[in-house]
Amino acid sequence: MCGIVGYVGRRNASDVLIDGLKRLEYRGYDSAGLALRTGDGLIILKEVGKVADLERMLEEISPCSTQGIGHTRWATHGGVTQVNAHPHRDGSGKFAIVHNGIVENYMELKEELEREGVEFLSETDTEVVVHLIATSFSQTGDILETLVNLQGRLRGSFALVVIQQDLPDRIYCVRKGSPLVLGSGDGESFCASDVPAFLPYTRKIQYLEEGDIAEISLGGIRVWDENGCPVEKTVFTVDWDVSMTEKSGFSHFMLKEIHEQGMVLRSTLKGRIADGRTAVDQELGWDAEMASKWDKVHLVACGTSYYSALVAERVLEKWTDLEIKVDVASEYRYRHIKCDPSTLAVFVSQSGETADTLAAQRKARADGAHCLAITNVRGSTLAREVHSVMLLKAGPEIGVAATKTFTGQMAALFLVALQLGRLRGTLPSDEEERLISELIHIPYKVELLLERENEVMELAKRYASKSNFLFIGRGISFPIALEGALKLKEISYIHAEAYAAGEMKHGPIALLEPDLPVLAVIPRDGLYEKTLSNIQEAKARNAPLIAVCTEGDTIIPQHVESVIEIPWTDEEFTPFLSVVPLQFLAFHIALLKGREIDQPRNLAKSVTVE
Ligand code: M6R
Repeated sequence: MCGIVGYVGRRNASDVLIDGLKRLEYRGYDSAGLALRTGDGLIILKEVGKVADLERMLEEISPCSTQGIGHTRWATHGGVTQVNAHPHRDGSGKFAIVHNGIVENYMELKEELEREGVEFLSETDTEVVVHLIATSFSQTGDILETLVNLQGRLRGSFALVVIQQDLPDRIYCVRKGSPLVLGSGDGESFCASDVPAFLPYTRKIQYLEEGDIAEISLGGIRVWDENGCPVEKTVFTVDWDVSMTEKSGFSHFMLKEIHEQGMVLRSTLKGRIADGRTAVDQELGWDAEMASKWDKVHLVACGTSYYSALVAERVLEKWTDLEIKVDVASEYRYRHIKCDPSTLAVFVSQSGETADTLAAQRKARADGAHCLAITNVRGSTLAREVHSVMLLKAGPEIGVAATKTFTGQMAALFLVALQLGRLRGTLPSDEEERLISELIHIPYKVELLLERENEVMELAKRYASKSNFLFIGRGISFPIALEGALKLKEISYIHAEAYAAGEMKHGPIALLEPDLPVLAVIPRDGLYEKTLSNIQEAKARNAPLIAVCTEGDTIIPQHVESVIEIPWTDEEFTPFLSVVPLQFLAFHIALLKGREIDQPRNLAKSVTVE
């Protein structure tokens, strides 16, 4: 986790760094700091709290500098204190570094350095790195050699940015296991954990490979591999623009992102459907012969992305003859699930940087599986390591709670499922055509729902004081119950559990009482009557009931306290609609409770450590 940013150019570095850190704050927000190179030495400022607190500190001294590095922290090693905040410096005060990742062997390195007389100020793993760099540089006098040597000493994951007082107009980066992208402008260069940090200044970016070392300077960017050999990098132009990283009149990024879901669906489907069938052959690089070699699909992800995989599982089972397995990446990577060249392994990750998902992918790849990434970030580690990629085209998601990318993931996974159904001959073409004709209407139906935010806002007032919630759903609505409960937990801090409705009798029913609202996701589908029975069971135990049901349903309102209606659609597509009111409900309850919605406590957007 953590966000890092570096700048060399002619602008006021502290303005660029503070702006960049604010754009990266979704990655970590317990403390922030920066190091600026000035004619009088390095100035290091750090503060516990938000980037805004650091900004206030800066206003008092207004340093003059055009070269610096910054960091916003999500604590792993060492508490949330000013001393533990980055940047960290060496004993001479000439080197300062910021780090994202974990140095696994920091204890042994620390003991070694202490034996050599190095004094440590912080409890972090990062501080060993700056001392190692300073010690090595004092021997070699060569920063490239120092950074090549450094990589041989460190175990774990790291994106590092290094500034040195005697190296004017340039800073150095090392990337291994944690994300770092470079940006080139006119007479200025940038590096950051994520593109939005420097999007106001440039859209020209370069991605670093594992072990790469980069120098970013006034004159441009130079890159070497882990052995110190120069490498040529391709410069990409990102199609994100800066307005995508702003709130555009909404009070919160999360609210903006919920409202973008119609657009996200349209852009994710655009160009991928033609003549009533999917048109993703080239993008995925699959043909019927290849698809006939697979007999199973593994879907692997974390958090919300995992719930989109659970939705996909249900349509893959229906449209293909493949054996489907879904698991959270943190389990999958350590299990002994049979994975071989007859496996299509699908990894779903908004960021493409989630540590467990990356590790799971590497394992499946080593086992011979064909790996597909469903991700929102072109150039992310996951996107670069797999055999095939399908991008969400959701634009940057800044709110820590995933919303529009969940919708985008489901759309991308549905395209993959339809494609597999056709390639394997298990989905007749008239059925594919029928499904696609409904799929292309989903963005409009989502937009109709978005107009009904006020209804959910009223509902939120009724239930915001509750301490616990139970979400239930069956079939394809079960993952939506899980996602609804996760959204509520994440941003309102209300305890919420989700169960497959049929499981209620096997335990959770004991919880039911008049103070426990039960939210049932019950669209008009094949399991409607079954879920209705579960609603009645809850009603008989005096639990207040809320139902997300299909508009025009006259039965459900007779049994529940509150109803949220969604437009009619085919059973398979109901998740695209039923999730929207649950996102709004979580948002408005959190708002009423005064929570920090875009940056909930203890969370970070990208979980880049295990
Ligand atoms: O970037 P990823 O999709 O791999 O992230 C996975 C989870 O960390 C993420 O979905 C998390 O659960 C969100 N906070 C959900 O809102």
